[in-house]
Amino acid sequence: MKFTLSSMITSDAENDLLAFGLFKSKAEKKKSNAKEKATCQFESSDSVNELDKQLNNHLIKSATDEGFCAEENQTFVTSSLGISKPKIIALMGLGDHHLQSVDLFRRFGGETFKIAQKKRAKKISLCIPPKTTIPLFDVVQAITEGFILASYSFDRYHTKSVKENHVKEVVIHLLEKPTPDQKLALKRAENIASSVCYARDLINEGPMELNPQAFAKHAIEVAQSCDLDVSVLDEKKLKKEKMHLMLAVGSAAEPASPPRLIRLHYKPKKNSKRVIVLVGKGVTFDSGGLDIKPADGMLDMKTDMSGAAAVFGTMRAIAKLQPDVEVVGYMGCVENGVGPHAYHPGDIIKSRNGITIEIGNTDAEGRLVLADCLDYAQERDKPDTIIDVATLTGACMIALGPYTAGLFSNNDALGDALRQSGKTVGESFWRLPLLPELKDMLKSPLADMKNVGERWGGSITAALFLEEFIKPGTDWAHLDIAGPASTKKAQSYIPVGGAGFAVRTLVDYIMGQN
Ligand code: BES
Ligand code: ZN
Ligand code: ZN
Repeated sequence: MKFTLSSMITSDAENDLLAFGLFKSKAEKKKSNAKEKATCQFESSDSVNELDKQLNNHLIKSATDEGFCAEENQTFVTSSLGISKPKIIALMGLGDHHLQSVDLFRRFGGETFKIAQKKRAKKISLCIPPKTTIPLFDVVQAITEGFILASYSFDRYHTKSVKENHVKEVVIHLLEKPTPDQKLALKRAENIASSVCYARDLINEGPMELNPQAFAKHAIEVAQSCDLDVSVLDEKKLKKEKMHLMLAVGSAAEPASPPRLIRLHYKPKKNSKRVIVLVGKGVTFDSGGLDIKPADGMLDMKTDMSGAAAVFGTMRAIAKLQPDVEVVGYMGCVENGVGPHAYHPGDIIKSRNGITIEIGNTDAEGRLVLADCLDYAQERDKPDTIIDVATLTGACMIALGPYTAGLFSNNDALGDALRQSGKTVGESFWRLPLLPELKDMLKSPLADMKNVGERWGGSITAALFLEEFIKPGTDWAHLDIAGPASTKKAQSYIPVGGAGFAVRTLVDYIMGQN
């Protein structure tokens, strides 16, 4: 798909699909409430009016007759029956222009792709509405991202009915002459969206294919093509590093799928004042271990490496965007299997930093992997800020539902910045408290700590467990993405399956630290 920018659309431009983003009209809404027949219930534009004229005033009339009033997500699609140059015309509702947001334009891009795909359109034009007040750089980036993200499909295992993407050319029409800067927004969107799609590929891949070793191969490949430093700690090095918690989780899956700690390092050309470290939970399959999960709880557990996939996607995007801040991404990859070498409930294991842990439940494995990885990362890279990303607890999904991630932080400014980035990119985070009074739940009679608390506040006790491994003075945030990491119901630009959640938030946050 090739993306370009242009100024105002002319109705004689050849297009398979011409999509207009439109705001609803407040004044006309009043009229219709008063039961007067409204002629046009949305804020039309010169281009729409011009096309309407060519179509003998049928475009606006039939849209209005069908009740189209540019409500958010409302669409009106019609064929021009060969009367005008564009073959299919789509009017896309963007709601009230006072409430416009960047994500609205991302959804505009996503919905336009879906119509294009249905109509087998090759050449598509999208036009933004006259009352657009969001900076055009952000609008261009969002539309392009939405379009690419919606076009994603994981089809490498389809041998019969392969879904073809017909789209070849996409032109975004602004209402003014595009600037070189806005053209950079296209490139930025392509870099980010392709990295999200790569993360989705990793999540959607089966656990036999994507074990920790295979994950490491992907990282090595990306490092070579994007100019990142890469290093991989195999099981021997992990032993040397005394990462006994991570090794315990992975012991049942050895020797078929031994654990790997992957490190990707982005060093900017200019000297960076800060180091940001990302750590992702990369449990390539979570059977629960000896505390085995029931079948329906285990079904989606190939997605338990979504945190590591998010770190992977973020590092790929950062390498392409080249900010002036140093970023290191760690992926703690391990399979939580069952077998004669499995770790047990009741085992007492010494973590890398010396804290002893009594295993209360082998299914609370993510925090064990992260604990050792967080400790290693802090010692090696001495970060100012460390952010971990993990499908850590079912409890977080119970609390916030399937579309929102839990956000914990020991620093309010960091928490606020991440939430704001999430808002900008259309990823939902909700701040949860690190309640000190719940720490007692992690007390063990036999060791320094247990790896599980009680039933209540499960996502909080998991976060409190991780906090024990954060060195004083380090700003830390923990993103529990158990809910939104993968989706069962397609959303505007998120197809069913791995979502690549948190890549866009982390990229936005890091780019803001320049
Ligand atoms: N990977 C799961 C968390 C999870 C559940 C992610 C559902 C996505 C969807 C994690 O390792 C786990 O099993 N956590 C347990 C913890 C419990 C044993 C304290 C949980 O949430 O039930
Ligand atoms: Zn688990
Ligand atoms: Zn897990």
